[in-house]
Amino acid sequence: MNIAVLGTGMVGRSLAVKLAETGHTVVMGTRNVGTTLAVTEVDAMGNLPFKQWCENRQDIALKSFASAAAAADILFLATAGAASQAVLDSIGAELLDGKVIVDVSNYLEFTGSDPLPALKLVNTTSLGEELQKAFPKAYIVKTLNHVEHSLMVNPGMIEGGHNVFMSGDSEEAKVQVKELLLSFGWRQEQIIDLGGIVYARAMEMHLILWCRMYQMLGTGSFNFELKQPH
Ligand SMILES: NC(=O)c1ccc[n+]([C@@H]2O[C@H](COP(=O)([O-])OP(=O)(O)OC[C@H]3O[C@@H](n4cnc5c(N)ncnc54)[C@H](OP(=O)(O)O)[C@@H]3O)[C@@H](O)[C@H]2O)c1
Repeated sequence: MNIAVLGTGMVGRSLAVKLAETGHTVVMGTRNVGTTLAVTEVDAMGNLPFKQWCENRQDIALKSFASAAAAADILFLATAGAASQAVLDSIGAELLDGKVIVDVSNYLEFTGSDPLPALKLVNTTSLGEELQKAFPKAYIVKTLNHVEHSLMVNPGMIEGGHNVFMSGDSEEAKVQVKELLLSFGWRQEQIIDLGGIVYARAMEMHLILWCRMYQMLGTGSFNFELKQPH
């Protein structure tokens, strides 16, 4: 498949590598190709400048968000949550209508004074729902937003039946996304389909607990597993 990964951060990079390794044609999207390739410093999270990172990755192209989206069958939205809507707006409904958009983003606001980030869209809505409302003819599927980027594409790094959630209004779109999750290494029984995109709010609110565990463990390499009594 032709897949666009919108976002050049660590999530976009992990997804792009895995998708290319599993046989897809991958184009990554960014605001401005020249600006992204001109970065020479390691970022605050310790990520290599994009140009250095992609030196040995000739199989992954970098284009503007709109150019990346144009040729794609499926898009991954791996942008800063505050920018996710603006990124899709910049691409436009004409290119997005009828496409599956896998939303892995979280709209978190870090104030510095609060011990935990705040969700900007919460309780009665969510980023996933707002994106679906803004692009009613696209098929938003929320998944992987509550899993650290390396674990997203290598769930076997943690033993056991830890879970990944998904939500979306289109059953067909979710079937396609489930296929991709399976190709990443998730097993069928680890994938929990919560239902419609309205349940993206539960997945996004879960992030606050995730953030607290990250603070306590000092790493994002963990996940949660649903257990029930026998
Ligand atoms: N880090 C994780 O392990 C993890 C796990 C699960 C979910 N997530 C979610 O995944 C998303 C991506 O996370 P990340 O850490 O890889 O990267 P990030 O730093 O949150 O986002 C980087 C991307 O967002 C774009 N962006 C930032 N500000 C923008 C603006 N004002 N307008 C347009 N685009 C803008 C950047 O565009 P340029 O390319 O032009 O710079 C870049 O492609 C986030 O929503 C995050 O919450 C992260």
